[in-house]
Amino acid sequence: MIVTPVPYRSKPTSRVTILALFAKAEVRQHPFFSGLPSGVQQTVLAFVKSKEFAGRADEVRVIPYGSTGKSVLLLGLGEKKTWNHRTAMVASRRIVMVAKQHRLVDVAVRLEDLAWANASPSAVAQVITENAHLAHYDYTRYRSSPTGGWPNVRKLTLLCAVGILPAVKRGVKAGTVIADATNHARDLANTPGGDLTPEGVSAAAVNVGKDHGVRVHVLHKKDLEKLGAGGILGVARGSDAPPTLTIMEYAAPGHAKDQPLVFIGKGVTFDSGGLNVKPDTSMYEMHMDMSGGAAVIGALAAVAQLKLPVRVIGLIPAAENMSAGAAYRPGDQLKSLSGKTIEVMHTDAEGRILLADALTYAERYQPAAVIDVATLTGAAVVALGNRAAALLSPNETFSQELRTLAETSGDFAWPLPLWTEYEAEIKGTFGDFSNTGKSRSGGAITAAAFLWQFAKKFSKWAHMDIAPTMTSIEGQHLAKGATGAGTRLLVAYARSLVASLQE
Ligand code: BES
Ligand code: MN
Ligand code: ZN
Repeated sequence: MIVTPVPYRSKPTSRVTILALFAKAEVRQHPFFSGLPSGVQQTVLAFVKSKEFAGRADEVRVIPYGSTGKSVLLLGLGEKKTWNHRTAMVASRRIVMVAKQHRLVDVAVRLEDLAWANASPSAVAQVITENAHLAHYDYTRYRSSPTGGWPNVRKLTLLCAVGILPAVKRGVKAGTVIADATNHARDLANTPGGDLTPEGVSAAAVNVGKDHGVRVHVLHKKDLEKLGAGGILGVARGSDAPPTLTIMEYAAPGHAKDQPLVFIGKGVTFDSGGLNVKPDTSMYEMHMDMSGGAAVIGALAAVAQLKLPVRVIGLIPAAENMSAGAAYRPGDQLKSLSGKTIEVMHTDAEGRILLADALTYAERYQPAAVIDVATLTGAAVVALGNRAAALLSPNETFSQELRTLAETSGDFAWPLPLWTEYEAEIKGTFGDFSNTGKSRSGGAITAAAFLWQFAKKFSKWAHMDIAPTMTSIEGQHLAKGATGAGTRLLVAYARSLVASLQE
C-alpha cells in the first residue's frame, strides 16, 4: 500500500471516496457529497434518513456505483466530542480493514475528516499513514493464498489543503517508516520458535543493518563464554540452539562520539518455562517472547531510515528457554556479567536474567539513556489488561516523559511504582540476587526491581514490560498475533531528542 498526499480537489480521482462522518453530522455538508452522482446522493440520504447510517463508531456502509468499480464508503466516527488521537488511530485502521474486506484497491480520504483538536497536520498525517499500514499487515507466511490473492489496498490518497502539503508529506514519510519497522517486528515475533532461533534473530538484525546502514556485531556462544555472560549462557543451557548477543549501532554523521541511547530487547525465541515448565496453554504464544528484541531491531531500522541526528545502540540478548539434562535448575547460581550471582528460584523468570547481562554490557557505552523492552511478566498483564504496557523507572521525570510519548505514539504504557522498598523482595538467600520476588504479589514490580540492580549506573533507565500488549485484541483492527509493541515508543523517544522535529 502506498499513501499519497494530494492537494484537495472536490473531485478526487480515486475510485473509492470516503465520507467520514461524526454522529449527527450533516452528510450534505461533506465536501465529497456534491461530487457524487445524484443517484448515489439519493442512496446516501436514504441510509441517513432510515438511520441505517447514523455515524456511530462501529458503522460502515459501502455503496458501489457505476460500472467502473467506484464506491462511496460511509465511515461512522462516533461522537465528535470524544474524538482524539486514539479514536483517529482506530478509524484509520478501520478504513483499511473495510477496504480489505471489500477488496477496494484505491481509496481516498480527507485528512481533515480525521483530524483532532490541536493536532498538527504532520501528526495527523503520521497517525493516519502509520495506522493504515499497521492494519494492512497480515502474517501469511504459513497460509496458502486464497483465490484472488491476499487483499491488497494499493493506494490510500490523503486529500488536504495545499498549504499544509509539505507538513503532510513529512507525516506520511515518518508514518510509513515507523509502520514498516513495526510490521517488521511483527514478522519476527510471529515466526514460530522452531523457525527462529537466537542465531536467526541475530541474522535478522544483520539484514536490517545491511538494508539501512546500521552496524551490527554478533557475539556468539563462544564470545559470550569469553565475555563471562553467565546469565545469558545459563538460560540457554537447556536448548540445542546456542544463545547470542546482538549489538546494533547507528550513528548519524558527526554523532559517532555522542553519548548514545541504548535500547535493550528481550530475545527469548521460545519460552517453555524450562524445568519449571509452563502449564498447558500458557506455552502457546511463547515464540513471541522475543518481541522486545524485535522491537529494538525495528526501532534501529526506523531511526536509521529517518536519519535522525543521534547515536543509538541496540542490544538483543537472545536465548531459548528449554528443559534438558543440561538445563539450568532452580537453586543454581549463575555468575552474571556484572560479577554478581543470580540465584535461580524459578527457571521461567528467564528474561530478566538475559536483560541483566545486557544492562551490564550497556555500561561500556556510558549511555545518555537506557530503555529495555521485554515481554517479562504475566503479572503485568494481570495488572493492566491488554491495552497498555507497564512502565517502570526510578527516574520520575524520565518516566513521565516516556508516558507522554507512549500516549501520542499509540504504543500505550502506564506506570507502576519502583521504590527502593521493593528491592528487599529480590535479595538472594545464598546468592546476591534472586530471580523472583518472595511471593507472587507485584510480579511486574519485583521483576523491574531485579533489573534495577543491574541499572544502577544509569541516570536515565526505564523498563517497559510489553507482555500486556504483545498480541492484538478484538476491536483493535489489527491482524491476529504480534503487535510490534515497543517499536513505536522507542522511535518516538529517539525523535523526541531531535529539536528540529518539535512543532
Ligand atoms: N515470557 C514470560 C512472560 C509472559 C507471559 C509474556 C505471558 C507474555 C505473555 C516470562 O518469561 C515468564 O514466564 N514470567 C513468569 C515470571 C514468574 C515465574 C516469576 C510469569 O510471569 O509467570
Ligand atoms: Mn518465562
Ligand atoms: Zn519469557
